Amino acid sequence: MTATLIKGTEIREKILEEITAEVAEIKAKHGVVPGLVTILIGENPASMSYVTLKIQTAHRVGFHEIQDSQPVDIPEEALLALIDKYNRDDSINGILVQLPLPDHIDEKKVLNAVDPDKDVDGFHPVNVGRLMIGGDEAKFLPCTPAGIQEMIIRAGVETKGAEVVVVGRSNIVGKPIANMMLQKGKGANSTVTVVHTGTKNMDEHCKRADILIVAAGVPGLVKPEWIKPGACVIDVGVNRVGEKPSKKDPSKMVAILKGDVDFDAAKEIAGSITPVPGGVGPMTITMLMKNTLKSLKCKLGIE
Ligand code: GUN
Repeated sequence: MTATLIKGTEIREKILEEITAEVAEIKAKHGVVPGLVTILIGENPASMSYVTLKIQTAHRVGFHEIQDSQPVDIPEEALLALIDKYNRDDSINGILVQLPLPDHIDEKKVLNAVDPDKDVDGFHPVNVGRLMIGGDEAKFLPCTPAGIQEMIIRAGVETKGAEVVVVGRSNIVGKPIANMMLQKGKGANSTVTVVHTGTKNMDEHCKRADILIVAAGVPGLVKPEWIKPGACVIDVGVNRVGEKPSKKDPSKMVAILKGDVDFDAAKEIAGSITPVPGGVGPMTITMLMKNTLKSLKCKLGIE
């Protein structure tokens, strides 16, 4: 059997088109567009490239976007004051502080300082609580889990009553996606198991999964014999396992990326599977745009 590929790159294009159309409609009716600020501390190359992509995408869908770069030695108090300024800025609907932060800054304090109604990352404890309650209460779902659920829905995979096994218990992916999949409602209503480094017989749990969501950060952790024939496999892992010359410019080296699932073997067993790269990755920034649009719609009372 060869699995159907669930391509994040294609789903992203569809969703970004939907967002662009909605932004134009809101602009015509209400005279406003969503505003997103990304705050970047220092010059970490990976963070710089993520933030650039976020801002470019915001620009593409018609948002008002601000990239606020601050020096690596910004005092914590100054960063908190900056967040407060954007909390009170009416033109801003979404605030994202790019992580990781320098060691002298308390990440928890910073994430807690963002107004929960502008917390488009979904990292504030209020939004974590809203997610746990579910239903109408859930406001901003964290972007990677929201992207995973959207992919499962758009791939037409049945979730109601499905056995979902989540590999990994991070605050950013494992815990939120497990909570989202057990809620009542669309793209959920599943029976959920979470396995992690403390689990005995991880393979036995995985073998039961109709939907296997892997976010462990361990290249090739999930072996083909752990996959139930016909299962939907979502691989969140993006592991750099080496370098190779770029196809576009062979004088430059680019990272070789590998997921947490042995893709080549798994695609012969699974019913559907996400590739790495081009699977879950492109969905994260897309859902950030969706959250920022939602923030404005909530403020306008049209959500
Ligand atoms: N750093 C890596 N991924 C993320 C993300 O999704 N949000 C924020 N704020 N920082 C990140």
